[in-house]
Amino acid sequence: MKVLIVGNGGREHALAWKLAQSPKVGQIFIAPGNGGTCQIGENVPVSSDDLEGLVQFARKQQVNLTIVGPEAPLVAGIVDLFESHGLLIFGPSRQAAQLEGSKHFAKTFMKEKGIPTAHSESFGSFETAVSYIKKRGTPIVIKADGLAAGKGVTVAQDLTTATQALRDCFENRAFGDAGSTVVIEDFLEGEEVSILAICDGQDYLILPSSQDHKRLLDQDRGPNTGGMGAYSPAPVVTPSLLEKVEKFIIHPTLEGMTAQGSPYKGVLYVGLILTREGPKVLEFNCRMGDPETQCVLPLVEFDLFDLFYSAAQGNLLHKGICPPSKRAAACVVMASGGYPGSIQKGIAISGTEKVQDEDVVIFHAGTGRAENGQLVTTGGRVLGVTACAESLSSALDKAYQAVGDIAFEGAQYRKDIGYRAINRVSSGSIPEKPGGLKAKS
Ligand code: GLY
Repeated sequence: MKVLIVGNGGREHALAWKLAQSPKVGQIFIAPGNGGTCQIGENVPVSSDDLEGLVQFARKQQVNLTIVGPEAPLVAGIVDLFESHGLLIFGPSRQAAQLEGSKHFAKTFMKEKGIPTAHSESFGSFETAVSYIKKRGTPIVIKADGLAAGKGVTVAQDLTTATQALRDCFENRAFGDAGSTVVIEDFLEGEEVSILAICDGQDYLILPSSQDHKRLLDQDRGPNTGGMGAYSPAPVVTPSLLEKVEKFIIHPTLEGMTAQGSPYKGVLYVGLILTREGPKVLEFNCRMGDPETQCVLPLVEFDLFDLFYSAAQGNLLHKGICPPSKRAAACVVMASGGYPGSIQKGIAISGTEKVQDEDVVIFHAGTGRAENGQLVTTGGRVLGVTACAESLSSALDKAYQAVGDIAFEGAQYRKDIGYRAINRVSSGSIPEKPGGLKAKS
């Protein structure tokens, strides 16, 4: 079978790596791919927002299944376009992708279906939004309605910050039309976890849970980023919590989308916050998480091609909750100097060849090849150094050992990936078990 993966990040490299393990997959194309994906398949010089170009490529190559990594082409309707050409594609339709493409849509949907989430109101003008915030008080969360490349959310601790966030949306138009409607949400306290479910419109398979680290610096300090690392499984996600997530979130979401005439097919990413009152949805995404994918996929023992192919056909092969792996995985992101601000590209990366541990995979994100074949940086997040082991602490040790072998000028990475899980075990709130977590001594 021929597979086309759309995207160019660490998530897409992880998808290519996992799909290449399927005996059913003969050829993998990645559009546009990166300096790592070209070692697994063929990079295709078509950008992920060139929907017509992607259709033409898939038709010409007679691609059997297309898998879409990032949200923007999904929200723009790539699935509807491919299907109108009779091409099989795994992802939600334009309308179903509104769960991520419009925060207002997602919050209205959750309110209607009784899915637990923070109280919120939507506004289309600066004045009405400011007057609401003055009444409601701080801390409060301001979200641009549309896609804003991960930058449209402000957690405001005071009125001045909240007012500035609203000014950025309505007056400075920092997010263009994506900020012309704003969702204002109550601030919730709790640990955040990511749950990914492969959905076929009716049924779902929940993949191993994970937690990512969004802040740039250790101890969750510094600016927000696309994610500086992740680990799986998240020990805080117990079987009884997962049951609640299935019953009160995933099941009603799929049922509700079908009732609205937009059955949800694709990966449903549930960004959860674990509050005292129980799990609540912080956000839905219509694709896999990055870097969560890099540590979740190594723990999935099913053939990923079978899962995506059957889900795309509306008849998911395995349903329910993925059997727990005996192993744990950790991903440490190495980023360019200056990230998440402006960065310099084209910096030589050395040492990847020194990493010989078979439990370690280096997923590429912002990398490319110079004319002489040298691996160079091309983006903010450069590599996702991922390791698996019988415990999270061993996986982290292996990942950090590999990180120590790799170098590029200005490289930055967090030194405390997984700290919450490790602390949880050290404090005794999760018993040590084989294949689970082991506290660092
Ligand atoms: N790691 C967060 C996301 O993929 O949205």
